[in-house]
Amino acid sequence: MTTPEIKVFANLEELSGQAARLFEGLAKSRARPKKIFSVALSGGSTPKRLYEMLAGSRRQIPWDRIHFFQVDERCVPPDHPESNYKMIRAALLDYASIPPLNFHRIVAEDPDRDAAARQYAQEMAQVLSPVDAQWPQLDLIFLGMGSDGHTASLFPGSPALDERVLWVRPNFSQRLGSFRLTLTYPVLNAAAHVVFLVAGADKAETLRDVLKGPPRLSPLPAQGVQPAGGRLRWFVDQAAARLLAH
Ligand code: 6PG
Repeated sequence: MTTPEIKVFANLEELSGQAARLFEGLAKSRARPKKIFSVALSGGSTPKRLYEMLAGSRRQIPWDRIHFFQVDERCVPPDHPESNYKMIRAALLDYASIPPLNFHRIVAEDPDRDAAARQYAQEMAQVLSPVDAQWPQLDLIFLGMGSDGHTASLFPGSPALDERVLWVRPNFSQRLGSFRLTLTYPVLNAAAHVVFLVAGADKAETLRDVLKGPPRLSPLPAQGVQPAGGRLRWFVDQAAARLLAH
């Protein structure tokens, strides 16, 4: 098991600010004229403030050498209220000078979900060009965690938890009664830096179980994120961390 670094912040605003500083530092240190910096962004509500801060950043961020991917996407059109892309676009893409070709959207509205997953994996391969590695190595992934312990669209007891071949695949959420496309564990665990962003009292019990409880991958998929050679950080607010001290 990767030993996670847990950083507790007073609130979501401070948590998001530190995540933005981390992004800026890594991007500036790793983006080179001939080497891109690759980041995968989650959806949901927690990371929205981070994305807004990045859009308004006063630092010199080398946007032209940063490529963005999605961690997962709901199987809806990109202008649907549930679309992760719609949220990321409203918080970040519409305001930062990110070249359009540098954001790689999951075309999750495609009725042929397996074809859409294959297409996304091919796009990742073209951009990240994993030379001898079997898996693409993203430089940085921002993940969230649901109060049911899911991350990305890796839901408790879902088939995608067992995926060890595909980089991207469809997965069904029983709770939501809908399909999504998601990056799989091997891709998440090949990343150089993985940062969970978790805020809110409703996450406290699950966060305690994920971080302090016994390994129970199926009911707590977030436990399965163990970057083999990467660095794992949990950025949490005090409300979500209130049961960690005990
Ligand atoms: C999504 C996200 C998902 C999210 C968690 C937490 O598509 O919803 O990728 O994995 O990170 O559900 O969501 P909140 O940040 O809204 O609590």
